[in-house]
Order: sequence, then C-alpha cells, then structure tokens
Amino acid sequence: MIQLIRGFKDILPDETPTWQHIEKTATALFQAFGFSEIRLPIVEKAELFQRSIGENTDIVEKEMYTFPGSKAELITLRPEATASVVRSYIQQKLYAKEPVQKLYTIGPMFRRERPQKGRYRQFYQINAEVFGIASPYIDAQLIFMLWSLFERLKIGGLSVQLNSLGCPACRPAFKGALSSLLASKTDDLCSDCVRRLDKNPLRVLDCKVPACQEAIREAPSMIDFLCDDCTGHFDAVKSALHSQKIPFALNPRLVRGLDYYTRTAFEIQTDALGAQNAIAGGGRYDMLVKMLDGPDQPAIGFAIGLDRLAALMMQTAPEKELTPELFIAALGEETRDITFEWSCALALEGVRTEIDFSGKSLKALMKRANRIGAAHVLIVGGAEIESGAVVVRNMATKEQKTIPIDGVVNHIKTYLAT
Ligand code: HAM
Repeated sequence: MIQLIRGFKDILPDETPTWQHIEKTATALFQAFGFSEIRLPIVEKAELFQRSIGENTDIVEKEMYTFPGSKAELITLRPEATASVVRSYIQQKLYAKEPVQKLYTIGPMFRRERPQKGRYRQFYQINAEVFGIASPYIDAQLIFMLWSLFERLKIGGLSVQLNSLGCPACRPAFKGALSSLLASKTDDLCSDCVRRLDKNPLRVLDCKVPACQEAIREAPSMIDFLCDDCTGHFDAVKSALHSQKIPFALNPRLVRGLDYYTRTAFEIQTDALGAQNAIAGGGRYDMLVKMLDGPDQPAIGFAIGLDRLAALMMQTAPEKELTPELFIAALGEETRDITFEWSCALALEGVRTEIDFSGKSLKALMKRANRIGAAHVLIVGGAEIESGAVVVRNMATKEQKTIPIDGVVNHIKTYLAT
C-alpha cells in the first residue's frame, strides 16, 4: 500500500466541517473589518523568501522545499504567505490604486520541519495583511480582530503574548548588547546559534534548545532599548488593547522566527496543544515592502495555524459530520428509474439525499441507513408505487408517515421542514 509522505496528512470528512466553520467565521469577520480576499500561487522564486524571511533563519536555512523551475531559476513551495502578498502588492501595483490594502488569504504552506503533533510539513494558514497604515491603532485592531475570532469560535485557554522588536534606529544597540552577552556563552550554545551569533543574534532568543534557553536567561530586553518613536508606538498599542479589554502579557523573548519584523510582534498561545502552542502569530514589517523594491509603505499582519486551531476545536466543539437527511431505500428493479429521478430532484431542492442502487434487502438497506446516520428513510417498493403512496420513516422516533407519490418531492420537503 502506498502511504502518505511523513509530515503530511489527510483532512478527513469528520474534520472538514470544523475547518469549513473556521474558514467561514474568519472570512465573515475579516470582511466586516474591511478585508478582501487575495489568492496567490503556492510556488514563488526562492529568492523572494530568502530576501524577506532572512538567510539566517531556520525556515530558509533548513526548511524550504526548493527545486529547479528552469535551468536558471530555483523555485520554492511557499513556507509562508506574507512574502507572496507583499510581492503581489508591489508587482500588481495595488498601492498605486490605493496604498491602504487589507488582504486575507487561506491556503497551504510547506516547511520541512521535524514532524510531530501539531507540526506538519504541509500545514494551512489564514493570513491577514494590512498595507499603508503606520498608526498603532491598526496593530491593536488586528489583535482585536484575531481575539474576536477566537471568541466567536468559543475557544478559551488562550493568551496574547506581546513584544516590540524596535526599528533600524534602536535595534542595533540591542543586538550589540545581546551579542556581547552571548559571546561570553558560546560554549553553552548549540552549533546553529554559534554560527548565527554574528549575523543574527536575535535568532538565539527563539532557539528551542534547552541549553540556549538557559544561556539567554539574563539576556537584555528589546523593550529597554526602544527609541522614543518605538516606545510611543508600543505604548499606544498597549493602551488601545486595554481599552478593548484584550488581555495580553508582555514577552521580551518573543522575537518570532522570521527576520522581517519591526516594532509590534505578537503570538496567540494555547495551553491545550502541548509543545506546539502557537496558534497564531504576526507583527509589523514596515521595511519589507521597500526592501523588496516596492514603495516605502508600512505593513502589519498575522497568520493563524489552521491545523492547530481545528485540532483545538475538534477537542472542544467539533462541527457535526454531514449525514443524509433522507435515505431512499429502493426495493426491486421496477423502482429504480423513478427513485433515481426523485433523488436528483431532491438534491437540487437542497435535501441531502442518499440513494442505494444495490438492490439489497430492506433489512440490509435499513442497516446501511443507520450506519451512515440518515435522519429519515423513504421506503419504496413495487407495491408502494402501485398504490400511489410511499412510506417515510423517522429513524430517531421510528414514526412512519405515508406520502402521496403525486408531487412527492414537495411532500417530502414539507415533511422534513415540520
Ligand atoms: P509563523 O509564526 O511562522 O508566522 O506561522 C504562523 C502560524 O502558523 C503559527 O503560529 C502556527 O500556528 C502555524 N504553523 C507554523 N508552522 C507550522 C507547522 N509546521 N505545522 C503546523 N502549523 C504551523 C508566519 O508564517 C508569518 N507569515 C505570519 C505573519 C503574517 N506575519 C505577518 N503577517
């Protein structure tokens, strides 16, 4: 038997109603906050991710699925969507029509990470990105929107972790202080961290290796190095979150695994999923549009891990799997043509209908109707057709009702509605 590739998974019919419910709830909410959908390719030039996520990140160094698209060009299965949305904002000149763009996109991402519970090599994200707004109110509004989504989905046990990563004016001093501390602890750091120490000391802060975690216990906090502008921005974000009653915790270790962030960085974490506890993450990336040769426009966004969110909901409030409203038990060859017609007409009327063409006995058909959770069974034999009426049975109450064949589709609709 050919099996799934390790780290990939099937999302089965008992899970998809929960996924659809999340997607529908998110879409309606995001649209109410002014977002429009954008759909983008799942492959891009490798260079897009190298330049935006950063050469010295785990994603770019180890986790990208990159292969030759042509002799001259490497292409990559997208490990995240932000870079692609920025690429499109620039390439399609969305900014020329209107610099402020609020865009969301839902789809699969690919990272060659070590698979474990909650961590997959193909996973799904719901992304929301805002371009052209520098105001801290939008930072708070995005977090508010995200929090509201989780409230609407009735998910508890969540916390908002918040940090500021500063800007090119104030971050170098922080990096310097961090580097000097780490330089005295190189013996304790993992080989990745030692290698990245010079170029990207911030990455040590989110290294999961316990020895590195221990080494950074006394690391300085970016918040103590923020310039006046960044401090003002951060204070305004916090105050707007307070006014909207969003509980949050300051987390000076939150640096996020991608290099493009400036100022506000946040994560929503859950206590119910074990080690993979980040269910959404995001932040500002005010430099990225310009860095990718676009106009100088600020931006901010987040991505929700759909697999993790769905897993949470499956634990607490799964959506019911779809089951037939009506199962047509057609008995005997002579009932086949007419019941076939009815089944098509009923489905077009929106009645979730299942018909069994196997010609099995009534007992076998009732058994199958039960197994697939049909709410009602329409029993149609030759004798019923001759008599001009069929029997419909409510599988829960066992009540039966006779329905005239003349106008049967409408009769069934009325019966199911009452
Ligand atoms: P990220 O933190 O890398 O951020 O991913 C966002 C979320 O995707 C995570 O919080 C997690 O729920 C989910 N996720 C990430 N990797 C995996 C995996 N291997 N398996 C399952 N779920 C996973 C970003 O991707 C940024 N682009 C977010 C962003 C948007 N920042 C600004 N705009």
